[in-house]
Amino acid sequence: MLQKISQLLEIVKGFEAHNKEQVEQFRLQYLSKKGELSQLFDMFKDVPNDQKKEFGKQLNFLKQVIQEKYDFLQSQFQSTEDVLQGIDITLPENPIRLGSNHPLSIVKNRIIEIFLKIGFVVSEGPEIEDDWHVFTALNFPLEHPARDMQDTFFIEKNPDVLLRTHTSSVQVRVMEHQKPPIRAVFPGRVFRNEAISARAHCIFHQIEGLYIDTNVSFADLKQTLLYFAKEMFGVDTQIRLRPSYFPFTEPSAEMDISCSICGGKGCNVCKYSGWVEILGCGMVDPNVLENCGIDSKIYTGFAFGMGVERITMLKYQIKDIRLFFENDIRFLRQFEAVL
Ligand code: PHE
Repeated sequence: MLQKISQLLEIVKGFEAHNKEQVEQFRLQYLSKKGELSQLFDMFKDVPNDQKKEFGKQLNFLKQVIQEKYDFLQSQFQSTEDVLQGIDITLPENPIRLGSNHPLSIVKNRIIEIFLKIGFVVSEGPEIEDDWHVFTALNFPLEHPARDMQDTFFIEKNPDVLLRTHTSSVQVRVMEHQKPPIRAVFPGRVFRNEAISARAHCIFHQIEGLYIDTNVSFADLKQTLLYFAKEMFGVDTQIRLRPSYFPFTEPSAEMDISCSICGGKGCNVCKYSGWVEILGCGMVDPNVLENCGIDSKIYTGFAFGMGVERITMLKYQIKDIRLFFENDIRFLRQFEAVL
């Protein structure tokens, strides 16, 4: 029987086929139910037990060689039609879904674009800051509650290493290093130690703006913000400024826009007032200019700052700020068509 196996091995190795019929012939002769291989396996049960191991090994080797040879012969005569059998190559391919911009990026880019059109540039700064750039240079008194542990994330025991609570820190950096005229917006991520809820998060995004030159007035601020509101929320949008307080601006104001949902008639988004608050602003306090090495007798300027989440929630009527950070694909896919 061993001899038979080695004979077959030789024959199979040397076998050549010139057409499909000969390949089929090969299959019938060696691999079919009544083929040589089956016969050998049938004979295997009569092999004495002490020789079974050696025979088994040889037989399995032969089986492997025959199968490989058959696969090879088949592949030689396989036509394109065989390969494509059952595949309709005229069907359109499965569409590949492209990723989309995050809603916060869409709105951030839109805001930047609006200010680029009137000559502002974009500046960015570090998220890990020091006390000077976040508070002291911006005229925050030492005992101001914003410096408190309740609001600010300190990274080390050293209170001079902290996560910025607003992007006004970048305003300071720009004023320290550039001579007026300065016209820039500062987008970025900010951090405040707040309890996370539908309306507040400990991480959010701001875009602040700064304009410093000779003779910059409150009228310039108002006109710039009116232009922004109309570009962002539609030409019919109106604005109103309410007096407010920030340590780094004097006078300070908060700006409302006429509610873009109900057009000012009153709805649950504007809490039936017709107005929605969207940003803080004011004339840069002379102390801040001096702290940054700018002569406040020659130069004046205005600044404003807004939350990107807030504006995005308003624009797309998103009710829960946490959706921005959960990366739920069902939420994000709704913005696929928006560029
Ligand atoms: N920095 C302020 C804040 O985080 C926003 C602001 C910027 C207000 C510039 C006035 C001028 O709330």
